[in-house]
Amino acid sequence: MSTDFPSKFVWGAATAAYQIEGAPLEDGAGPSIWQRFTHTPGLTVNGDTGDVACDHYHRYAADVALMRALGLQAYRFSISWSRIMPEGKGRVNQRGVDFYRRLVDALLAAGIKPVATLYHWDLPAALDDHGGWLNRDIAAWFADYATVTFKALDGVELWATLNEPWVVTDGGYLHGALAPGHRNLFEAPIASHNLLRAHGRAVKAYRALGIDKPIGIVVNLEPKVPASSNDDDLAATARADAYMNRQYLDPIFFGEYPEAVTAMFGEGWPEIPSADFDDIRAPLDFVGINYYKRGVTKNDPNKVVERAAGVYQPRSIHTETGWEVHAPGLTDILVWFRDRYGDTPVYVTENGAAFYDPPTAPPSGVDDPLRVDYLREHIAAVREALRRGVDVRGYFVWSLLDNLEWSLGFSKRFGIVHVDFHTLQRTPKKSAHFYSDVIATHGAALDQR
Ligand code: FCB
Repeated sequence: MSTDFPSKFVWGAATAAYQIEGAPLEDGAGPSIWQRFTHTPGLTVNGDTGDVACDHYHRYAADVALMRALGLQAYRFSISWSRIMPEGKGRVNQRGVDFYRRLVDALLAAGIKPVATLYHWDLPAALDDHGGWLNRDIAAWFADYATVTFKALDGVELWATLNEPWVVTDGGYLHGALAPGHRNLFEAPIASHNLLRAHGRAVKAYRALGIDKPIGIVVNLEPKVPASSNDDDLAATARADAYMNRQYLDPIFFGEYPEAVTAMFGEGWPEIPSADFDDIRAPLDFVGINYYKRGVTKNDPNKVVERAAGVYQPRSIHTETGWEVHAPGLTDILVWFRDRYGDTPVYVTENGAAFYDPPTAPPSGVDDPLRVDYLREHIAAVREALRRGVDVRGYFVWSLLDNLEWSLGFSKRFGIVHVDFHTLQRTPKKSAHFYSDVIATHGAALDQR
């Protein structure tokens, strides 16, 4: 069969610990900032928490069997730091380690490549009590946690340090919609910088262990497009691009922050020791790119920092999270990455859409044509990037399961597998069957209707 995907191209699905596991305090785990956030009244839609979520902590074996049945070749999951180290540093909780050991072993036995992310937003609450990402010591704490985890989970095929540092700071420290819920312009750049330092220290620790599997970081990127050709919108677009797309990658690849970002914070930008970049620049084997939408940007004189949530596009389809569906943006951002940062291999580590599905799966199954179209168009956009010579090594749909969409709770369903949050029953949606066909045909099913 002729397809345009390289023979080693990997097809997978992604999840994150707090969004699916449930049992956040079981087997000696410590609370995370998401435990604290969801248990603070008024911070999540319907007061939803991750106490049960998809109960994956107890159902992981069945979930792995489901992945196998769908033909997934890789599974990207994240590790909860406070299961491994309940206080965030020091003591290791063996029962927490054992859970991920069992998961990795089950994946390997099923022939599915384990792809692990060390930090997908659930900082141990005990570390937040010491300032969390604002404390410079966190680089060492993170490297220690990473070292324990790297050693314990051999068999992981691909390691990512952080998931979406931009969201950690923009959502967690600047706008407060995500844990730890701070709104502080002065804190945001400090958190960003410590995230990068922690990332770099973990990569160095990994190299010191001599592990021969690839390690990288996962960032979320959006092509920023001006809402009009007026000068203010063009300038805002350039700022939005620097803030979201280059704030983390420029320091990693070039050893400096974009000037547009430091200017944006003015006197609020912290003093940064130049030696920090020795850690931050630690060479990577790949970069994971999460893509959901483009950002059509309009200048807003009251916006201190360019967020560019995306101006509503009347002629586009928008998902349940209000995000514009724009598949060519995925090709654009992959090409942009290669043109700016060079030939480091990339994976699309997340891509998917929330559309309405009923809370209970009908006996006839869950028909989700909008999600099928979304996946078809976006995977085709990856193929286009491959045609243009970008070294894309794999694609992970977000998400395997409907899950806790952070502060939006269970109100938004991103899964290709439906979860009934009363019975916890799993039902693969039409999109899961479609994705299975894409995998089985190595992409050829994209063109069959
Ligand atoms: C990404 C997150 C992921 C999920 C999707 C919808 O930003 O990494 O956990 O919330 O968005």
